[in-house]
Amino acid sequence: MVDRNGCGHDRPVLTGSPRSPPPSFVEQANVSDPGIYDEFEENWPECWERAADLLSWRKPYETVLDDENAPSYQWFPDGTLNAAENCVDRHLESGRKTHTAIRWEGKHGERKTYTYRDLYVAINEFAAALRDLGVEEDDVVTIYLPMIPELPIAMLSCARIGAPHNVVFAGLSADALATRMDAADSEFLVTCDGYYRRGDAFNQKSKADNARLKLEQDVSTVVVDRLGDDLPHVLGDDEYDYHELRETFAGETIDPVPREAEDMLFLMYTSGTTGEPKGVVHTTGGYLSHAAWTSHAVLDVKPEDTYWCAADIGWITGHTYIVYGPLALGTTTVMYEGTPDYPDRDRLWEIVDRNAVDIFYTAPTAIRAFMKWGSEYPAGHDLSSLRLLGTVGEPISPRPWNWYYEHIGNEECPIVDTWWQTETGAVTVSTLPGVSEMKPGAAGPGLPGMDVRVVDSTGTEVDSGDSGYLTIARPWPGMARTLYDGDKRFQAEYWDRFSDPDTDDWRYFSGDTARIDEDGYITVLGRIDDVINVSGRRLSTTEIESAITGVAGVAEAAVVGRSSETNGTDVYAYVSTEGGYDDDAAVREAIIDSIETAIGPIARPTEILFTPELPKTRSGKIMRRLLEDVANGHELGDTSALRNPEIVGEIQAEIGEE
Ligand code: PRX
Repeated sequence: MVDRNGCGHDRPVLTGSPRSPPPSFVEQANVSDPGIYDEFEENWPECWERAADLLSWRKPYETVLDDENAPSYQWFPDGTLNAAENCVDRHLESGRKTHTAIRWEGKHGERKTYTYRDLYVAINEFAAALRDLGVEEDDVVTIYLPMIPELPIAMLSCARIGAPHNVVFAGLSADALATRMDAADSEFLVTCDGYYRRGDAFNQKSKADNARLKLEQDVSTVVVDRLGDDLPHVLGDDEYDYHELRETFAGETIDPVPREAEDMLFLMYTSGTTGEPKGVVHTTGGYLSHAAWTSHAVLDVKPEDTYWCAADIGWITGHTYIVYGPLALGTTTVMYEGTPDYPDRDRLWEIVDRNAVDIFYTAPTAIRAFMKWGSEYPAGHDLSSLRLLGTVGEPISPRPWNWYYEHIGNEECPIVDTWWQTETGAVTVSTLPGVSEMKPGAAGPGLPGMDVRVVDSTGTEVDSGDSGYLTIARPWPGMARTLYDGDKRFQAEYWDRFSDPDTDDWRYFSGDTARIDEDGYITVLGRIDDVINVSGRRLSTTEIESAITGVAGVAEAAVVGRSSETNGTDVYAYVSTEGGYDDDAAVREAIIDSIETAIGPIARPTEILFTPELPKTRSGKIMRRLLEDVANGHELGDTSALRNPEIVGEIQAEIGEE
């Protein structure tokens, strides 16, 4: 395994001065007793009943954890429940019908509010429509929608009838959609005509149409009319208008299908070590328990709050912390369609101010942008409603952390820096905001009940102050159960590296490297695999490389991450053409086109450097780590073992000239 970003890397690891949670926060926190760590420790795994008991179960579970077939763990396996019932129906029963469930803020200032009752009506009608289209329990429904209310409505409608959803981020390309539908054998698609990007109408349906052309299976498609006359569209065979379906099934109710706790709730494709995206499988009982518990214990969500996770539902953060966690707790979740700087750079603060948002959760990349734009934007608004701030998706260094603390939180809101992954389902490492001291730059210790360890290459825990591989030595309810294409790859990707099956000792390996301090606080350093984190989004360098090498005339490509002040990491591509060296505008354009077609604009390189050759080892392997050091201006180690050491100087000279 190549260590590209992590252990031994000379990136400075800083943490700022610790801060205690403000007493006013502690007084009202959902969790404020420091004894919770011991309590979970002494009573493991039964401690996780605290999470499961936040839900309503159709059939109560008796077993908490079945580890018979580790690492295919089963949580609450003999219980049954329905996720939509938990996120919607039960709040009506508890007399909160008119409470706002979703507050939607559109890109052009449009607003929509869905009470729990409205959400109930919507998901019942759409669930009835899906059934009528032939969706049966366990059929995978792909959802390819931007941040409009129909996205969570479609997810919850699927959950109601026991059909796992497979949400594909709306910004991904037609090819990426086709790959994910094909891999998931999905015959149903919910998409829209288009959406606004900045001021312009952008056609989503044509991407969906192109994806369907690539698929062997027949696909029934539901189209949400988002743009009306701004982008007229025509429905073809096996295409249905969302609003017409809702009218056809107006007033219908569908009983929520009781699902076994271990039944799949959804699939989410994410980037992995190889170019093939991984279909991460999440279950109903364990995932929902963990989502609800962490929303309660880490994000301190209360039913009367207005809570805003400013992520996209197309990724795991939005699944867990815009949809399932907050709705399971019956709070008001804000959904924002636009970008932070449109129409102006105070857009988010205007939304916080107008809605009196209590909790705000975003990514470091956004915080770095706010910091760059200047504190006058938040200063122009009343942000005093805020009680807690959160960050997720990439490391946050002390400077932006402190800026967030001061200028958004007015030094009165704790910040939770939450480390987790698509595969962990919900937060696994973070401080508890009503209990723990915060250390800017370190996410915190493992949550109660989590056994997070930083280990060396032999699996032995490193000393405090040292760095190593981030592993988890005990299962947890929200963990992925498998990959859609099978347990074998699941085991190879996450378990083989540090587990010992002979002694039944299973260790989950996250793919991240980290440093641990004397208080068990973890600072994530980076990934060791071919994954880069661009603005908090996970991209596979192998996938980008194969899009580049697919361009006529390109001989080889190496993609690495380059540290960036705004994006965390930028995509940096080295390309050699068949002619040896050809910085040709047409090839450059074709490369960008190919990447946008294969993945989407999010994977577009900030830099494409043409070079006569790529540096290689004597056995012919491209030295990506060296190229990463070159891109980052790091000092290079000994390059004499290369087959073509002279090329490194040429590349450096080329960069220097730019
Ligand atoms: O490298 C870690 C980084 O994001 C990766 C997971 O990406 P994804 O599955 O897309 O999920 C993102 C949102 C949960 C991790 O392997 N990461 C996530 N949170 C943090 C982080 N790195 C540092 N600090 C964090 N708080």
